[in-house]
Amino acid sequence: MKPFYITTAIHYVNDLPHIGHMYENVVADVIARHRRRMGDDVWFLTGTDEHGQKIERSAAREGISPIELADRVVAHHRALWASLNISYDDFIRTTEARHRLGVYELIRRIQERNPGDIYLGEHTGWYCSNEETFVPDSQVVDGRDENNHPVERTNERNYFFRLSRYGPILLDFYRANPSFVRPATRFNEVISFVQSGLKDLSVSRTAISWGIPFPGDPDHVVYVWMDALTNYISALGFGSGDHARFDRYWPADIHLIGKDIIRFHAVYWPAFLMAAGLQPPKSVVGHGWWLRDNQKISKSTGNIVRPTNIIDQFGADPFRYFVLRDMVFGQDSNYSDESFLSRYNSDLANDLGNTLSRAIKMSDSYFGGKTPPTPCHSNDLRKTAEEIVPEYLASMEQLAFHRALDSIWKLLNQVNGYIVAHEPWKRFKESGADDQLSRILWNTLEALRLVFVMTAPFMPDKSHAALERLGADPGAIDAAALAWGALPNGAAVRVTDPLFPRIDAAQYVAAITTEVRSLMNDKPVAENASPEASTAAAGMAPDQGTAAPPHSGPPAETTQAMPPDATRVSIEHFFEIDLRVAEVRAAENVPKSKKLIKLTLWTGDAERTVVAGIASKYKPEELIGRKVVIVANLQPAKLMGIESNGMVLAASIDGEASLLAVDPAVPAGTKVK
Ligand code: MSP
Repeated sequence: MKPFYITTAIHYVNDLPHIGHMYENVVADVIARHRRRMGDDVWFLTGTDEHGQKIERSAAREGISPIELADRVVAHHRALWASLNISYDDFIRTTEARHRLGVYELIRRIQERNPGDIYLGEHTGWYCSNEETFVPDSQVVDGRDENNHPVERTNERNYFFRLSRYGPILLDFYRANPSFVRPATRFNEVISFVQSGLKDLSVSRTAISWGIPFPGDPDHVVYVWMDALTNYISALGFGSGDHARFDRYWPADIHLIGKDIIRFHAVYWPAFLMAAGLQPPKSVVGHGWWLRDNQKISKSTGNIVRPTNIIDQFGADPFRYFVLRDMVFGQDSNYSDESFLSRYNSDLANDLGNTLSRAIKMSDSYFGGKTPPTPCHSNDLRKTAEEIVPEYLASMEQLAFHRALDSIWKLLNQVNGYIVAHEPWKRFKESGADDQLSRILWNTLEALRLVFVMTAPFMPDKSHAALERLGADPGAIDAAALAWGALPNGAAVRVTDPLFPRIDAAQYVAAITTEVRSLMNDKPVAENASPEASTAAAGMAPDQGTAAPPHSGPPAETTQAMPPDATRVSIEHFFEIDLRVAEVRAAENVPKSKKLIKLTLWTGDAERTVVAGIASKYKPEELIGRKVVIVANLQPAKLMGIESNGMVLAASIDGEASLLAVDPAVPAGTKVK
């Protein structure tokens, strides 16, 4: 069997996992399950990253030791992975002894093979404890890094890794391994980062104590990224007496990570490994971010989404399906409960569940609770299935999960079309359970068997249950099971409850909104049991239809000045409008227009052009450097032939627009709400 080693990032333990972490482990699990059933000898690793300043500080804030915090959070991680059906083979904690041995061995090998590659030097610079990384001066503005995280000035005597020596070596390696980083766009970013010149990297810290003591110099701890990255080999026994697993599975086939940490995995990690005389991983795969209101979901932003309610209520499979179907792998995606519900009802309850129960019910009543007696090996459905299965397998290979799922749904639609075209109920009425009806229904059930063999890595439990209901072998989901013809004749089918019961979406959203708000306020749900309580805590207006209780109502005039309920918008609606601070980098009058100015705005991560009707009040030159508020997610529009991407907010009196004032200290890109 071919070894296949897949890893996720190891998650920090300063907080519970959120949807971004869940997504990553689900994707890794889908890959692992798929590879296993295709015959590979899979080793699937996940775990936790427990050292560093961030954890040290979080624990101090709670008045407990870092290891107490880690133990508590790790228990949550394990429980969550169990509830999501994550089939990992090993779970590594960086506080384990086996891991420390791996880190020591890596450093020892670097020092032995390339003695000058680790040296003691002086380090003065900025450190971001949020990302546990040193930040170049050029990326620091007003005490914050590019991601708006606070940075601190550090001045330490540190051990350095001679990363500068590895630029050309890495570039050669990238050339020889053109799919080392996927998707390709991310690889290009890595290559230009390396081409722009690498600086030596500080790999020890003295300012903190929560870490692995640096070998030979216990005043230092190993820099948390060097520590963390080594988990991928320490978990295989590297540095312990027994290297058998390491020899079998290293180099890893896939390090699955989010796009924010690609540099650590595609630049630092291979350089450390090369310095130690070890092989780099075969590929680093960077997935996109789950966003809320177009912002990365993260603890530091405070927009956490933990859809545990969805998992509690619907089980792991609908959630697993949703995240894999809704996010184009590699790109970012906005999370909303509403889109979960609509996909659940239309794709799962309706398309998948209904088709299954319809087919099984017919087989049950026309063929005495059994699969039909006559198989059929030459028909249109088989032809379609045999086109779709290879298409699906190719998408799985390319990690294009949304496309793989699309292919399955294509077959499902064909099955529905086939049922409608052949009207088995009519045929049964006319000529009973004859051979032809047997063939029609057998085809239908066989195509559905293939559907559920294909959904198995995504929805293991539901697929197992569906295969059982169909009279197929629920354990047979391997490569052979993907060929037409495995459904037995005369096997018992099971008519039972719907596989995916429909949800009343409106009722569900009303209940869930309360919960999401509570999470956004970072308070336990119990503290914010009613929508009124949670909106008040967030400083937001009460929702449409959630009137404040009479004793706490606003004074009469205020009430009258408010628009009637029917014309108010909900807070969700308001949040659909992405308001951002932007800085004017360039401005010029639009030729032949008295009102329009063309602005080049910096939004923290990119420049964009916005045309604004402010020329009657402002001169272009006085706008440079000014901060404005824009609607950032407006559809583009052409004004006097110029494409405008957004709208600058201004108060208008008799057609003269006055820009809103923004505190100049607010960095470009900050969300306004
Ligand atoms: N501890 C480091 C990783 C060390 S790996 C040697 C870390 N931890 S993390 O907890 O912050 O993130 C764990 C993984 O979750 C990372 O791959 C990260 O990219 C991913 N995500 C965190 N927020 C995310 C989203 N909002 N969306 C999708 N994934 C994101 O980084």
